[in-house]
Order: sequence, then C-alpha cells, then structure tokens
Amino acid sequence: MRVLVTPDYRTLSRTAAELLIKALHAKSNLRLGLPTGRTPLGMYEELVKKHQEEHLDFSKLMTFNLDEYLGLPADHPKSYHTYMRQHFFEQVNISPANIHIPDGSPGIDADRESERYEKAIHDAGGLDLLVVGIGANGHIAFNEPGSAFDSRTRAVDLAPETIANATQYFGNDRVPARAITMGIGTMLEARRILLLAAGTSKADAVDRRRCNCIPVSLRVWMRQRIAQCKCQMVHEQ
Ligand code: PGA
Repeated sequence: MRVLVTPDYRTLSRTAAELLIKALHAKSNLRLGLPTGRTPLGMYEELVKKHQEEHLDFSKLMTFNLDEYLGLPADHPKSYHTYMRQHFFEQVNISPANIHIPDGSPGIDADRESERYEKAIHDAGGLDLLVVGIGANGHIAFNEPGSAFDSRTRAVDLAPETIANATQYFGNDRVPARAITMGIGTMLEARRILLLAAGTSKADAVDRRRCNCIPVSLRVWMRQRIAQCKCQMVHEQ
C-alpha cells in the first residue's frame, strides 16, 4: 500500500487523474471502476481537460460504476447515471457500449440486476483499476460499516447518516433508502485500488493519527489482502 498526502484538493485531483492516465496509457482498454460524490469531481475535471486539450483517448476504456440508488430512473437528476453523464461521459469520447452502471430504476429486480452486474464485471475480465471514495462513516461505495468482507454486488439499506448526508443534494426530493452496490469482495478482486479521501469530514474515517493513514474499513480489507499490497490512497493533508 502506498499513501500519498497532498497539500490541497487540486493536487489530490491532479494526482488521481495522473495515476489513471498512466494506467490508461499502459492499457488502452482498461477496465476501470469509478466512484461518484464530491471527492472525484476534480479528478473528472482534469480528465476532461486532458481530453479536450490533449486529445486523451477514452474510446477503448470500459467503465463500471460502484453503485446506484434504488428507485431512481437513469435520467433522474440525482441518479449516478446522470452524475456520470454530466461530469465525465458526455465530455469525453467513451463508447456508450463500454459504460456500465447498476440499473436502479423503479420496479427493477434488484437481485437479478446485481447478478447481471457482477457477471458483467467477470465477463470483462475483472477490474484493472478501481477508484473509490470513502464516506464520513467509513463506507466504501454503499458498503456501510459492518458489511461482509466477501460481499458481492447486491441491494443494500443505506445507513441513516448516509441518507442524512445526501439530503443536501436531494433538496425537497426524498433520498432513496436503498441502493445497489459493488460488494467488498467484488472490489477486492480489482488488480489495483485507488482510494481518495478529501475534506475534514473524512478525518475520522481516514484515522491518520492512530493507524498511519489507513482508514478503519480499509485496514480490515488489508488484513485479508495484505500480501497483495495493491492499494494506493491519496488524501488531503
Ligand atoms: P463524497 O462521498 O465524495 O461526496 O464525500 C464519498 C462517499 O460517500 O463515498
């Protein structure tokens, strides 16, 4: 595991984008896991800039998003489908056929959708690089604290603090109480993991003083997979 501490959010975003671009240069048909939320916004901005100014090519990239709310159609303004279109996909030359996001549409059979998603990752040959954020309560994707380490993609209930935190984005709309998320076991099979942590609200989750920059939830992962040492973390000072 490598921990990179950056002086500010801009440097975090640039560092994350550079690591991703390096991986894309090494393998143009990279299988990439992608997060949503506030933290990766700067990284997406950097990637879009590289495409617009230097023609960085995303045409062979295959992406798999971490999660999606259950009960929101893909075109809902607060869905992660919409977030990804707005902040990344519509601004680069990724092929729509190469984009994968769990379908959380109303009425979807969440178990079948989770199985389909898990199989899609498997059929693609697994994830080469997985970029993840971390919640203030330590959740990774929508795997809330206490999730099984061998969990696969599945429907989950969101923790009350996760729902409360999301109300700032949903305004008058009700925040969904459930979501489909990649499982911890699914994520651990990625060949490399890049964890991004930004903002003071993440300080406890990252728990710098007590565990030398390894977040609580990640320490558990690492206990299982320590030998592989495949995780990099970038966080703000
Ligand atoms: P944030 O969310 O980037 O909006 O802080 C991260 C997360 O909850 O995983």
